Amino acid sequence: MNIILLGAPGAGKGTQAELICTHLSIPTISTGNIIRAALKSGTEMGLKAKSFMDEGKLVPDEVVIGIIKERLAEDDCANGFVLDGFPRTIPQAEALDAMGVVIDKVIDIEVPDENIVARMSGRRVCEKCGASYHLVYKKPENDGICNLCAGTLVQRKDDHPDTVMARLDVYHKETEPLKDYYSKQGKLAIVEGQEEIAETSALVLKEIEA
Ligand code: AP5
Repeated sequence: MNIILLGAPGAGKGTQAELICTHLSIPTISTGNIIRAALKSGTEMGLKAKSFMDEGKLVPDEVVIGIIKERLAEDDCANGFVLDGFPRTIPQAEALDAMGVVIDKVIDIEVPDENIVARMSGRRVCEKCGASYHLVYKKPENDGICNLCAGTLVQRKDDHPDTVMARLDVYHKETEPLKDYYSKQGKLAIVEGQEEIAETSALVLKEIEA
């Protein structure tokens, strides 16, 4: 099954992508994680992307389309995948169609803007492996320490309130039109993001099994 997760920054795409990939035994492809990994290893692409990311802007389409093209050609995508954070613009969606990639379902997780800003301020990520936590909704077993690799948990630079507002603005202008794009293709399912992660997960799984 080939799935796209849509939603505002912090709507819970990454959290639900983890669940789907375990449930269906398929990989998650997160363009945000790929770009952050490139930045950490100091590649040219990572360095180019840094200023866009730090300001809450989108990285240019040609860069992310190139990343996705390479990643989808890998063997582990043969039986399906979850795209988390791609496409984010109409040209990115058109590029995916032009690659001949057939999408089965697009799940849009809806969370009001005011909840997003509060939610993002509580997110902490492992600086070593990238695992994501929340100070209230997904606490690590030991404060400030990753359950998976014992790395230190830090706040993402783009999770500061001003940058979150900029990211939301970009989301409404550039990404939200994708709902209409996929609705016209009959692939869009809308899930209302719930206060508890497990409640959202139950709704997402229901859509996948529908
Ligand atoms: P990216 O990393 O993709 O960020 P994003 O889409 O802005 O989404 P996030 O990862 O911030 O949030 P999420 O929806 O995955 O939420 P999460 O599950 O973590 O992109 C970062 C940047 O990279 C972009 O700004 C851009 O510059 C660049 N980029 C990436 N892809 C690109 C593309 N295709 N084109 C151009 N540029 C691109 O949840 C958030 C928090 O809330 C967590 O702490 C979680 O524990 C908690 N939480 C989750 N669900 C719930 C719930 N139901 N109740 C309470 N808390 C919850």
